[in-house]
Amino acid sequence: MLRSTDGRNEVAYAASRFFHSYGLKFLFSQGNPIFTLCNFTKPNNIIFMALLSGKNVLITGASKGIGRAMALRFAQEGANVAFTYLSSVEKGQALENELKQFGTKIKGYRSDASIYASAEELVNQVVADFGTLEVLVNNAGITKDGLLMRMTEEQWDSVITVNLKSAFNLTKAATKFMMKQKNGSVINITSVVGVSGNAGQANYAASKAGMIGFTKSVAQELGSRNIRCNAIAPGFIETEMTEVLDPKVKEEWEKGIPLKRAGKPEEVADAAIFLASDMSRYITGQVLQVCGGMLT
Ligand SMILES: NC(=O)c1ccc[n+]([C@@H]2O[C@H](COP(=O)([O-])OP(=O)(O)OC[C@H]3O[C@@H](n4cnc5c(N)ncnc54)[C@H](OP(=O)(O)O)[C@@H]3O)[C@@H](O)[C@H]2O)c1
Repeated sequence: MLRSTDGRNEVAYAASRFFHSYGLKFLFSQGNPIFTLCNFTKPNNIIFMALLSGKNVLITGASKGIGRAMALRFAQEGANVAFTYLSSVEKGQALENELKQFGTKIKGYRSDASIYASAEELVNQVVADFGTLEVLVNNAGITKDGLLMRMTEEQWDSVITVNLKSAFNLTKAATKFMMKQKNGSVINITSVVGVSGNAGQANYAASKAGMIGFTKSVAQELGSRNIRCNAIAPGFIETEMTEVLDPKVKEEWEKGIPLKRAGKPEEVADAAIFLASDMSRYITGQVLQVCGGMLT
């Protein structure tokens, strides 16, 4: 994202550049653009500014899918990115190399978000490596679908532990540092099924609904310390997680989406950029649905 020093956006900047090159000046007065003739001068009040410049970010489960897209977009926006992977070791290491092109500090860690002690150790290591931690994204997640009648205890326990307990583990460890800093943004990746429920996903929907309650509670507890906590509820997003679905099921889902298509991981990442950045500094305890209007 490009921003001018007075907070105008990319479009304003591009427009300003265009009009400068034609000897016109593009000004703003109470939100309305005004064009005036001027000399061919270089704009001196406009600078490149990345939205997450100087922020240290930790993303869990970034070896693929939405986590990977967030790591790439965050680094592109100037963030120093720490991220985790678990079983996809090669993909995690490849991502670490890919992220280095953006020139910020990057480090991948192999860590299981569902284990309390590992999460605590990870966060301590990230703070030791990066100095501070401004943004935590609880993204790691799994599905183990099945109708309740056939769902095993293991299917229930593992989904609740990986999806919900991991958010508790990481948030507890990270907010310890954020409280000292009096600054932080926690973003929990939940799901539209955490709001609406879904037949065949009682475990997954419960874990995601739990994340929403967790998000709102943390927002209320830590707002006074300038720590924000929000959730993103993606709809149907094209990743390895949804690749396993029957094409006919996918078609049916897409028909029910007002925008008539599945979402892309990058579209979830863009919402995360907003919640991580100071653009959302007065937003906490909210669930941002990135679902093409699915829940409308
Ligand atoms: N795709 C969708 O349509 C959709 C919709 C709504 C919500 N979501 C949510 O978005 C998040 C990302 O989903 P996705 O579609 O990108 O899934 P994905 O492609 O399957 O990626 C899941 C990521 O989570 C990591 N992970 C799993 N268990 C972990 C653990 N115990 N510790 C650390 N990392 C772990 C995986 O790492 P390894 O592979 O290295 O183990 C992987 O990087 C999940 O929370 C999911 O529930 C997805």
